[in-house]
Amino acid sequence: MARIIAGVGSSHVPAIGAALDNGKTEEPYWKRVFSGFEKSKQWMAQAKPDVAIVVYNDHASAFSVEMIPTFALGCAAEFPPADEGWGPRPVPVVKGHPALAAHIAQSVILDEFDLTIVNKMEVDHGLTVPMNLLFGQPKDAWPCPVIPLAVNVVMYPPPTGHRCYMLGKAIRKAVESYPEDLNVVIFGTGGLSHQISGPRAGLINSKWDKSFLDNLTRDPKKLTRIPHIEYMREAGAEGIEMVMWLIMRGALDDKVDEVYRFYTVPASNTAVGHIILENRRKAAGKSRSAGKARAAGKSRQAAARKSTQRIASKGTR
Ligand code: DHB
Ligand code: FE
Repeated sequence: MARIIAGVGSSHVPAIGAALDNGKTEEPYWKRVFSGFEKSKQWMAQAKPDVAIVVYNDHASAFSVEMIPTFALGCAAEFPPADEGWGPRPVPVVKGHPALAAHIAQSVILDEFDLTIVNKMEVDHGLTVPMNLLFGQPKDAWPCPVIPLAVNVVMYPPPTGHRCYMLGKAIRKAVESYPEDLNVVIFGTGGLSHQISGPRAGLINSKWDKSFLDNLTRDPKKLTRIPHIEYMREAGAEGIEMVMWLIMRGALDDKVDEVYRFYTVPASNTAVGHIILENRRKAAGKSRSAGKARAAGKSRQAAARKSTQRIASKGTR
């Protein structure tokens, strides 16, 4: 049986990708951001998922305003990086997992979530930046196949937080009914608070962001009741990206272990948030590393929290 071993939340700021691609990671501004993901890369290297499901939003790269699916599941064998105006990012082509993706599509659609099935799609910074933050910068290939799930948060009306959370639960059920023994990590990307244009451009609300992260771990159901207008008012127009984190959270156990958190302000226009949540149940049978990673994660937890606080207090408004 396949199972979801952990969820990762991460901002996907495009300038982070540009900093990586242009060799700026050692500049103090960017070092502050990248240092918050060092432990995460170690965690991921130990967890060694067989597949990653990456919930992200397309920023008018694969879908134009002519057609915007609410939930689009990538079922293709590969997803090339999109040209977002400066040529495609120099990152490996993302390899898919068509068999598991087709299984998820069937299970979730028969569970009455009307996904769009996508058999050809390019992926933008929404997906590739969190991949870099967690998997580093591999030259030739990403370490595991990826199933992209693109969510509309760019044109009104995006799905509600509750719908996203319930979709996460349906995805979990789908994964757990897949016969192969696979360890799956699910990503929720985007956010945290940011507004890119208009009179409130530059808006950051650290208090609201941190409360969102607290509740993501402890009381996600509370977050499912947040209306769109509250995301807009408190976290800025683009803060609505945070509903995607609820798909990731819905796919996890009710009670999870928060093994890592990082928060810093700003990167580009955005408050950068990052969290790693582990399911308490054991990873899939063969599970050479995930259980160990979990134990290691736990023992690292206190140290990670301390360093997170230290890093966060430097960069937080
Ligand atoms: C920025 C952040 C985003 O999430 C995005 O998709 C585009 C731009 C920014 O901070 O500039
Ligand atoms: Fe975005």
